Amino acid sequence: MKITKICCIGAGYVGGPTMAVIAQKCPDIQVTVVDLNEQRIKDWNDPNTDNIPIYEPGLSEIVAEARGRNLFFSTEVEKAIDEAQVIFISVNTPTKTYGKGKGMAADLKYIELCARQIAKVAKQNKIVVEKSTLPVRTAEAIKSILDNTGNGVQFQILSNPEFLAEGTAVTDLLNPDRILIGGDTTPEGEEAINALVDVYANWVSKDKILTTNVWSSELSKLTANAFLAQRISSINAMSELCEKTGADVNEVAKAIGMDSRIGPKFLKASVGFGGSCFQKDILNLVYIAKSYGLNEVADYWEQVIIMNDHQKRRFSNKIVQTLYNTVADKKIAFLGWAFKKDTNDTRESAAIYVADDLINEQAKISVYDPKVSRNKMLSDLDYLETRSDEANSKALSIFDNAYEACKGAHAIAILTEWDEFTTYDWQKIYDSMHKPAFLFDGRNILDSKELESIGFIYKAIGS
Ligand code: NAD
Ligand code: UDX
Repeated sequence: MKITKICCIGAGYVGGPTMAVIAQKCPDIQVTVVDLNEQRIKDWNDPNTDNIPIYEPGLSEIVAEARGRNLFFSTEVEKAIDEAQVIFISVNTPTKTYGKGKGMAADLKYIELCARQIAKVAKQNKIVVEKSTLPVRTAEAIKSILDNTGNGVQFQILSNPEFLAEGTAVTDLLNPDRILIGGDTTPEGEEAINALVDVYANWVSKDKILTTNVWSSELSKLTANAFLAQRISSINAMSELCEKTGADVNEVAKAIGMDSRIGPKFLKASVGFGGSCFQKDILNLVYIAKSYGLNEVADYWEQVIIMNDHQKRRFSNKIVQTLYNTVADKKIAFLGWAFKKDTNDTRESAAIYVADDLINEQAKISVYDPKVSRNKMLSDLDYLETRSDEANSKALSIFDNAYEACKGAHAIAILTEWDEFTTYDWQKIYDSMHKPAFLFDGRNILDSKELESIGFIYKAIGS
């Protein structure tokens, strides 16, 4: 079976970049990305591709090349489903905020809606691909909906989880470590797997395309995120011990990372991991383990989240303690609000929680982030519902450059590792601040010796 028409439901951080790269690398395949969110689709269709809704290095150039040729963004969900041979489901699967599994389980209502819509519209056989991150055995539920409410059409369900990281989405998609495709071991299942393998084989070598059964594929995605996050919580746990003992966490990370069995990546101590995936997926893993009665397994993974929450709180506590146990009416400048550099995404960013803690202590926060809008920062804080929206907008002032944000501040906190922060004239910033001037580096990106020689009281994580 040769694929010529793909539809992707969900034009978000995964659907948008993933489909843009498929369209760029497969000019013979028509790729249509659909979403219910009209504004998002309008932004993807903005004539100036610098205004597309997701900032990722290299993405606007790819969209400029493929859009209108074989890449389309549309709100006509049913038409796109009807026309496509392959439908990727790339919608959000957030943590449930209600009912059974509240605060732990993945909310599958958007996935189920997609399955029902596909069942309603499809008149020919289709391959349905789970691109969203899903609990193991979700394909069973999707299949049941498709088979029982459909029009007698045959569906093959594949699991094809996405491993891209934000900020490096384009390079990750162009040079993936692996592509994982899970499907049924029946002849029809294998035919569907092979059809999807052929799409990726346009730019990924076949030895990097791994095929498995559906359940292994679904569970591998949760496992990969759990292992990655676990390394960060492990090094962050050590960072606290380093602070007590005179060891330096960067030196420890380098020393252990040179062991080829451990490896150097994902050992950067920080104010805590953020992003839309790690916390949500581990909570979901914990919930799944508990639902099978595997309490030790659940407790083991839950500790990764407990450690991460502790690390965020520890950072705000340290600011308060160091500033003589009070930050009331003091100005604390935040450099960075995004959950990591090179993205405008703020979901679960440590900055939100640190700001919330400090505002509880009646601090005034002034923020600069190169890519995050004022409205986004305020809505992130409002979402926590700790205080009124008016109180948040009084406590948070937002600047479009770092020098203004830091002027008159008692302390600076680095929350995101944006490269530009390492290029600043720190003497100029120091001169504009209250003295003593404190700098809390939540990302360990600045040079302690240089800052201390200027006069800063510099506190990094883990030293
Ligand atoms: P997102 O919120 O950015 O995008 C999801 C989009 O789906 C939204 O624009 C929403 O309007 C749309 N949508 C929801 N229901 C719909 C429906 N019924 N019909 C049409 N559109 C609908 O989410 P995301 O970050 O792209 O994540 C999507 C999935 O991919 C999640 O399961 C996530 O866990 C997984 N994932 C995310 C990343 C990442 O880095 N963000 C990486 C790997 C996997
Ligand atoms: C993650 C996975 O890496 C990716 O494979 C998956 O598809 C989606 O989830 P993402 O959340 O976009 O990607 O970014 P990632 O680079 O993993 O960073 C997550 C968080 O961990 C960020 O807040 C980052 O700053 C933090 N981090 C990362 C550390 O604190 N230390 C590290 O060593 C690495």
